[in-house]
Amino acid sequence: MTDWKEADRAHAWHPYTQMLNAPPPLGIERAEGVYLYTSDGKKILDGISSWWVNSLGHSNPRLNSALSRQVEKLQQVIFAGATHPGAAELAARLAAITPGELDHCFYSDDGSTAVEVGLKMAAQYWRNRGEEGRTLFVSMTNSYHGDTFGTMALGGSPVFHTNFSPFFFPVRHFEYGRKESRDAAPAASLGARGDGSLEEILEREGDKIAGVVIEPMLQGAGGMILWPSSSLIEIRELCDHYGTLLIADEVFTGFGRTGKLFACEHGPIVPDIICLSKALTAGYMPLAATLSTDRIYESFLSEDRGKTFFHGHSFTANALACAVALENLNILEEEDILARIAGIEKLFGERLAKLQELPTVNNPRCIGSLAALDVQPPGAAGGGYLDAIGPKLYAEFLERGILLRPLGNVLYFLPPYIISDAEIHHVFDAIEEVLGAL
Ligand SMILES: Cc1ncc(COP(=O)(O)O)c(C=O)c1O
Repeated sequence: MTDWKEADRAHAWHPYTQMLNAPPPLGIERAEGVYLYTSDGKKILDGISSWWVNSLGHSNPRLNSALSRQVEKLQQVIFAGATHPGAAELAARLAAITPGELDHCFYSDDGSTAVEVGLKMAAQYWRNRGEEGRTLFVSMTNSYHGDTFGTMALGGSPVFHTNFSPFFFPVRHFEYGRKESRDAAPAASLGARGDGSLEEILEREGDKIAGVVIEPMLQGAGGMILWPSSSLIEIRELCDHYGTLLIADEVFTGFGRTGKLFACEHGPIVPDIICLSKALTAGYMPLAATLSTDRIYESFLSEDRGKTFFHGHSFTANALACAVALENLNILEEEDILARIAGIEKLFGERLAKLQELPTVNNPRCIGSLAALDVQPPGAAGGGYLDAIGPKLYAEFLERGILLRPLGNVLYFLPPYIISDAEIHHVFDAIEEVLGAL
């Protein structure tokens, strides 16, 4: 290939990209630590962990060698009727570190499939028990759970999914008030929009509900919205009271992002199903895991073959991905990464407090290694994913060698955990400069 950028322009269709007029993509030839290196010699700080996946830095030596060791042994094998040491050990390790007794691990490929698996498990759990009327799911307004049809139906973000909405199954949405702090009390009347409060929905239709799906503590693509830990407990109690399943989508929040290994620990609560991906392999390989309780798993055990979980993907439990995920878990434990994330959160808090003084900054907030704020240029109504300020800010930061990719007017910084204090200061200095000049 003589000119790979020309080949890309002619043939590669990029995600979430208006191909008519989007700026040319960054041509990344290699990456190391928190930096991406372009083919035309630029060094760019990866301030979004390459779409929220890269947790331990690019080209991490330990992950690289785990991958090289595995590639010599086994790359991929069918996971129906066969298994391999990496998949078995990883399932056991995930069962041990996830909250409560989520002991049964089903593998898939990415965040969307992790949630699809959770939905299908919940749906079939009720059917296997003879409760066929439970066909409704509940999720939160502003939620994002992926781009497959099931996860889009759950999603509460019209901008992304309106084009496909005629094909969605019915879902009820509830809202917990936006909060600046995770310790704040929940809003008095939960569910001012959507289909009512969770309690109202469960009271009305509880016997039809197969499961309640949440993004614990932090809604990502919906606008980096933090919600209080007390709500986690309240949601768990409501699900128990009305006898339905709670599905925690920790695709984004899992593996330390919010300062705990899993965001459910902020409650703490134990969901019935947890969905994991993204940082499961520290962002190296596509892999997902959906873990469930004994109660759910056992409902599938039957002489009746119709009760089997008929779901699977070609690359289920890919051996290379499992090897990297195992090394990721070793690093998280051995290198005390959670302590580093606590340090990042403290520094974020200090720098955000300073940013609050700018008239263009609203609702600065942080949790774990995520810092976010709403940008409100003076005089502009603004807001929402399609706000023109998003592309403008993207370009401004790129000029300064920093990759930040605002969600409309929501600017967020989500670096790999290995970022240094000096690099954090560098990014906040740039944010101050850019927002101060608006
Ligand atoms: C909470 C959550 N769930 C699911 C997904 C979908 O993951 P994927 O893009 O890997 O399909 C995402 C992606 O951002 C997410 O943030």
